[in-house]
Amino acid sequence: MPTADEIFKDFREHSIAEFFKKNRQMLGYAGIVRSLVTVVHEYVTNSLDACEEAGILPDISVKVSQVEENRYRVTVRDNGPGIPKKYVGKALAMILSGTKFHRHLQQRGQQGIGAAGCTLFSQVTTGKPVHVRSYTSTAAFECDLSIDTLHNRPVVNNTIDIDRDGMGIIVEGEFVGVKYENSEHGVLEYIKRTALANPQAQISFTDPFGKEFVFIRSSEKTPERPKATKPHPLGLSVNDLLELAQTSESRKLSSFMLESLARTTPNKLNEIQKRCKVDLSKNPKELTWSEAEELVKAIQSIKWIAPDSASVIGIGADQIKIALKSILNPEFISVVERKPQVFKGGIPFMVEVGIAYGGNSGRRVEDVQMASIMRFANRVPLMFDSGSCAITEAVRDMQWKRYSLDIDTQPISIFINISSVYIPYAGVGKEAISQEEEIVDEIKLALMEAARSMQRYVRGRQLKSIEESRYKIVMRYTKQLATDLEELTSTDKKDIEERLEKLVAKHYPKLKQGAENPNEAENTSDSNSV
Ligand SMILES: Nc1ncnc2c1ncn2[C@@H]1O[C@H](COP(=O)(O)OP(=O)(O)O)[C@@H](O)[C@H]1O
Ligand SMILES: [Mg+2]
Repeated sequence: MPTADEIFKDFREHSIAEFFKKNRQMLGYAGIVRSLVTVVHEYVTNSLDACEEAGILPDISVKVSQVEENRYRVTVRDNGPGIPKKYVGKALAMILSGTKFHRHLQQRGQQGIGAAGCTLFSQVTTGKPVHVRSYTSTAAFECDLSIDTLHNRPVVNNTIDIDRDGMGIIVEGEFVGVKYENSEHGVLEYIKRTALANPQAQISFTDPFGKEFVFIRSSEKTPERPKATKPHPLGLSVNDLLELAQTSESRKLSSFMLESLARTTPNKLNEIQKRCKVDLSKNPKELTWSEAEELVKAIQSIKWIAPDSASVIGIGADQIKIALKSILNPEFISVVERKPQVFKGGIPFMVEVGIAYGGNSGRRVEDVQMASIMRFANRVPLMFDSGSCAITEAVRDMQWKRYSLDIDTQPISIFINISSVYIPYAGVGKEAISQEEEIVDEIKLALMEAARSMQRYVRGRQLKSIEESRYKIVMRYTKQLATDLEELTSTDKKDIEERLEKLVAKHYPKLKQGAENPNEAENTSDSNSV
């Protein structure tokens, strides 16, 4: 039997890049169709974030071309601020680095894993680097990027200065173990949904068959920038508090709390001090786990003002309406934008729901019509792991029939966006939102509100279709009746038929009008509860 000393001769440390090289499914590289969507998702969300931060209306083009079976090239171009030469390696070829991780700000990316994950995926499946061209306001260059996975360090090669040509970045990589599929889980659907949740973006997509799809910008309004926020005391776990304290520059625990936590005033500190024995004048770096536990308990036992909801910004009811109309061309839309709420006592979030009926809404599976449920977190489409998601749970729990709606048979698209600085994802793949009670309840309330206004329309439609079939039946008899009456009264058949038709039509005035104006605007009504 080997001894501990012998066994531990083999002891090694590993870098985060080595870890993800072995566990790339954790980054969304699982399954050949999903892996391709993940690559597009990482680059497109980065482009949207970068444009948003720089106050630029995004113009993004995505191209996917097939190299051979299960091998594709992906090219994404944006018109954002670009990446300076000094940072390009770390930004796109070093895991856990970026401009977003350390901020308490509602953004799509956060961990600093996405782009470097793509570089890693390309390199381990093709042995090739990714190619980047970057155009900033002062310079332009191109280079090849890969990761030294042993040390999680960027490797930048073949850097050349190039002519400035607009702004933004063009990133291109090749990937093996991926497949383009035109399905509900494919790249085209991902891009369509991204366009729906980002009406300020113009996105064009060229598929592997050379077909180009352009999702035209439907709103010229740059989205409002959410404010960076401090964490609210009620949302803090013991570990959170300890980590914040340990990285604090303050010399006293009290000043750290005043500076780093939201809604914290000297009065609040007095209240906390009365309920726990922790010395608030000690150095925050010396806070122990048991002291942090005591503090969190005290924090939770006093009353706090709700967190500032300015940190949460949704898409906006009007913007959702514009996007749904432009992309789905439905007969009817109902959009609900709820006020921000909190979960876990102190984390603000906000729910927006849009229901579209008719036009290109819903989806068809082997000629069977059904509803399409589109889930979004901070405007990013969630395409996978729907089973475990709070949104799916809320949709499933709704008694749709009560609202005269049937999600198994009707052409309905249900759009649900959750906005928050801290979206509680159910897993590392960030494809499902965990089923926090407050979030599920809030989605249900929004769905009910939207469904109620949809019901009015669907009811009207059902009544109309009953009338329509009655009208058709009656009309079928007018011809025969006219022939019989001609014989009985010796009046011209045509004349009788015309008069009978007019008589019947008089009883169905709505049908006649509807037939003349099939796209009547009254069918598109809105419900905003703001
Ligand atoms: N298209 C882009 N334009 C400008 N900067 C970018 C772009 N893509 C990535 N970056 C920079 O690279 C960093 C790392 O990106 P990424 O690995 O996806 O992590 P995250 O998006 O979570 O921060 C970003 O934080 C950003 O600073
Ligand atoms: Mg990212």
